[in-house]
Amino acid sequence: MAVVIAVDGPAASGKGTLARRLAAELGYAYLDTGLLYRAVGLSLIRAGEYPGDAVAATVAVESLKVADMDFSDPTLRDEETGHAAGIVAANPAVREALIDLQRNFAAAPPNAALGAVLDGRDIGTVICPDADYKFFIDADIGIRAERRVKELQEKGDPSIPSRVLQDMKERDHRDRTRAVAPLAPAADASVIDTTNLNADAVFALAISFIR
Ligand code: DC
Repeated sequence: MAVVIAVDGPAASGKGTLARRLAAELGYAYLDTGLLYRAVGLSLIRAGEYPGDAVAATVAVESLKVADMDFSDPTLRDEETGHAAGIVAANPAVREALIDLQRNFAAAPPNAALGAVLDGRDIGTVICPDADYKFFIDADIGIRAERRVKELQEKGDPSIPSRVLQDMKERDHRDRTRAVAPLAPAADASVIDTTNLNADAVFALAISFIR
């Protein structure tokens, strides 16, 4: 059976950096599950639909072909897409439609990898409650917003820091309070607060739990 590592947490907490690094270190497959919600959000934007339109969102998720998805499309990672993703992620039908895909990835990782690292919001609680290792990565929201602004600046994406902070607060609130699969640490997750830790320190801590 493949080893499963769940890495959950809010935006810009450092969970993606940690998850990618764990996967590279251990030779496991990696899935950024936020990209699935982003892909649904982006297809609605491109179709000119409102992401909160439940019917349009259901159609979008049902026609999502992960095998054909271009995960390197930079539009998937921009703020507008992230905003739309937060809205579609609160739609129970969208979440339901993405469950099997994520569980199948964990159970049978691509390229015959011996394990899988999935990052998201509900991996340890809903998608893979029996994961071998669970991490919940968190940090102060001011620091997370600063990290996101820096990331956007590095991409040449002009951003207004106060808007990034405001949007992050709204998305956090939506993620934490939605009725289905809200963002929360699993009871058996190791919680790492990255407010005062750099990526190397977070990785060292997480790998020490695993080893
Ligand atoms: O991690 P991210 O910014 O790429 O996530 C985009 C949105 O999707 C965010 O609002 C949270 C949501 N999401 C989710 O609800 N469940 C996941 N497993 C991953 C992301």
